Amino acid sequence: NHECTDVIVVLGASGDLAKKKIYPTLWWLYKDGLIPKHIQIIGYARSKLTITDLKNRTQPHFKATPEEKAQLDGFWKVNWYVAGSYDKGDDYQKLNKEITKFEKPGKKVNRLFYLALPPSVYEPVTKNIRENCMAIGDGWTRVIVEKPFGHDSESSAKLSNHLSELFKEEEIYRIDHYLGKEMVQNLMVLRFGNRIFSPLWNRDNIASVIISFKEPFGTQGRGGYFDEFGIIRDVMQNHLLQILSLVAMEKPVSTGAEDIRDEKVKVLKCIQQLKLEDVVLGQYVGDPEGETEDSRLGYLDDPTVPDGSVTPTFALATLQIKNERWEGVPFMLRCGKALNERKTEVRVQFRDVPGDIFPEGAIQRNELIIRVQPGEAVYLKMMAKKPGMSIDCEESELDLTYGSRYRGVTLRDAYERLILDAFVGSQIHFVRSDELAEAWRIFTPVLHQVEREKPKPITYKYGSRGPREADDFLTKSGFKYTGTY
Ligand code: BG6
Repeated sequence: NHECTDVIVVLGASGDLAKKKIYPTLWWLYKDGLIPKHIQIIGYARSKLTITDLKNRTQPHFKATPEEKAQLDGFWKVNWYVAGSYDKGDDYQKLNKEITKFEKPGKKVNRLFYLALPPSVYEPVTKNIRENCMAIGDGWTRVIVEKPFGHDSESSAKLSNHLSELFKEEEIYRIDHYLGKEMVQNLMVLRFGNRIFSPLWNRDNIASVIISFKEPFGTQGRGGYFDEFGIIRDVMQNHLLQILSLVAMEKPVSTGAEDIRDEKVKVLKCIQQLKLEDVVLGQYVGDPEGETEDSRLGYLDDPTVPDGSVTPTFALATLQIKNERWEGVPFMLRCGKALNERKTEVRVQFRDVPGDIFPEGAIQRNELIIRVQPGEAVYLKMMAKKPGMSIDCEESELDLTYGSRYRGVTLRDAYERLILDAFVGSQIHFVRSDELAEAWRIFTPVLHQVEREKPKPITYKYGSRGPREADDFLTKSGFKYTGTY
């Protein structure tokens, strides 16, 4: 559209997130022609940088090929940089001037502000954007905010109130990058676009649901940041709970953002507050026989982690949804760093076959697995007759592995989808303020109790499955082991 220019301002342009995620994402969108044609990108941070400095920092993360040189030059031609503080109005006036450069009579300028910043500066930054940099005429202004959105109910409510005084909810994009992942987006289609799942999707047929996030590396020098939050705030309260709400919500009235988010909030409201007895907490120790330097170091060996920290790097929590569909079905969220593999998946385990006629132990429970990453897949574990003369039962799979079914199709990075959504004004995959409040309501009491009582987490070895107690806990909650999980 020749009538408008879209400007994205990356606040915190000199930081890690901007370097590793935001600039590379903008480049990928640009080179594939997905980003609005008249895009202008303005970096903003305290350091005095030139575009060449910015290029040297970020471009190594672009994975650009030599053939893309001309396009790269084009990309850097639409990049600008302004150095300024995060709290002085004058600096934002300067930024505003840079943006207004693109305003011509009859041409509207839309403004998307990406806060790639530590939460400590969210308040002054958003206030200054509001006071100095809002779009004029019929251009829009939108703000993308990264987690952490507070650290408990109270601090999150304070931030939400602050933001809602400055911006309308339609202008605030709270990013949870898991909502941008292919398989997370697939949940809606799987559940509501198939006749076969809907009648089974309830307490009568489903025994338990496990949502796991496993990472094979430790805090890698990010321990100082991590220690303030711990794994529950880092991964469980946001990424895993978002997945849970898509798995458990009722069918929305439509695929519109408000209808979907209404249902997510509704199911979250039915979740009881987590109690300490429903949680297993762990912290990794180094493996003296580990092959890499990282694996020989435990969490407490990270020099940026305070001595004697009891911050969990692993957590398993069982949530109960008290509604007609789910009462009594445990939803187990499990996440950990420094484990044996990288894997995020949802496992829906069905109940035993009633009136089983086969020899005892021959029949395994059905399971529907949605593998979020790596190796995106949906597969259904089911029983089949073992080929041959006898009637032996064997566990087999209906397998939709994306790598083979969609060979040659590149799955887009989560940030690409989400930044594009923000440009086109789609909030489906962003977190609404009432959703966030519910997420904190569920976890705040247990987080506070852990902070007060400082229970010692169970240690587990770097590269292991996590504390054995967590597996025992899963079994106790009714999960039946049928392979690796
Ligand atoms: C982030 C967490 O939100 O998600 C990190 O802060 C974690 O600790 C990361 O490593 C995982 O994201 P992904 O996309 O690599 O699974």
